[in-house]
Amino acid sequence: MHMPIKKYFQEEFGEAPSFIAHAPGRLEFIGNHLDYNGGPVLGAAIDRYVTVAISARKDDKIVLVSEAQSIKVETSLGEIAPMCGDTSWGNYPLGMLKVMRDAGMNVPHGFNLAVANDLPIGAGLSSSAAIELATGYALATLYKFAIDKKSIAILGRAAENTFVGMPCGILDQGCSSFGQAGALVLIDCTSNTFSTKPMPDGTHFWVFNTQKKHALIDSFYATRNKECMESTEILRRKNPNLANLAAATEAMLEYSKTELGPDRYKRALHVVRETARVKDTIAALDSGDIKRVGKNLTASHESSRDLFENSCAELDFLVADVTKMPGVYGARLSGGGFGGAIMALTDGSFSESAAAKLVADYAAKFGNSPTIFHTKTGDGAGLL
Ligand code: GLA
Repeated sequence: MHMPIKKYFQEEFGEAPSFIAHAPGRLEFIGNHLDYNGGPVLGAAIDRYVTVAISARKDDKIVLVSEAQSIKVETSLGEIAPMCGDTSWGNYPLGMLKVMRDAGMNVPHGFNLAVANDLPIGAGLSSSAAIELATGYALATLYKFAIDKKSIAILGRAAENTFVGMPCGILDQGCSSFGQAGALVLIDCTSNTFSTKPMPDGTHFWVFNTQKKHALIDSFYATRNKECMESTEILRRKNPNLANLAAATEAMLEYSKTELGPDRYKRALHVVRETARVKDTIAALDSGDIKRVGKNLTASHESSRDLFENSCAELDFLVADVTKMPGVYGARLSGGGFGGAIMALTDGSFSESAAAKLVADYAAKFGNSPTIFHTKTGDGAGLL
């Protein structure tokens, strides 16, 4: 556990911070790669946070420190540009500064900012969206810039898209912003509308992180995004009014199958069927049919594995193994894929010893152990 952020800030900068903000990590519940295709997605904020503390500087310097990073980032208001190497962690706060300035925030002087994590980095829980949103609240307060839950989520995504260079959708930032303890976050990514739905009674989230990160993960993600955009364009030749890929039908895909070619056809079929699965999951949640919810989660994983092809042997093993265990409703890869974490929805009988058995099975096959998080849903980002 990190030392309290106030003490850390004081040690680093020799003064007390003026404001402290935090933002949670997220789980993707269902709706894999639907966000940038305009589909509906369900996620949740978890009760693990990135916390940032900020104070104004008299000069135009920006100094960023993080408990999780050994390298300090120093720059100035006149030279904000993406960084690489050891200082690239600074791109999340700097990206927020850039997009908020572009949106009209007046920044007359620099600032000191310290970051503390009780959200693990690289665990598939989206610490990047959390640092963006926590920084967004801290900057907005320091520079008296009006924001709300929706605008900060949109700004966070813009920072990721335009400054970090990751063509993600709104899922991570939307969940971190609109999360609520005891609730799932539902996002309609065509209209950017956010709402919550109660978590089914007596259910639990278990996350198993493979700690595997494919070296090409970002380029694989970008490739999938590109394949989806191309599919949309191809479908529009025969369906000029198609709003986005999530609005397509299987009949449309059949009609353009030759033009799509085998890979784009599979990606598009995943998007169309996953969209139907999210809608069915919403209906199942509304009628309290947790078993059906669980079946949809596992079917979503299978579609990622076979059609979207963003799974890997480690994730497939964890899903296949955990879904055989008592007390498990369903499981799936959570997030971008190509490594990362799976999430299982369980009842209260699933225990640490069941989780340990899964870890042992995995270690026997792959030689290393996934990390386990028995997580609860948490409240969204804000000033503390
Ligand atoms: C990552 C991205 C999200 C979303 C998921 C896949 O988490 O950041 O925007 O696309 O992958 O559903």
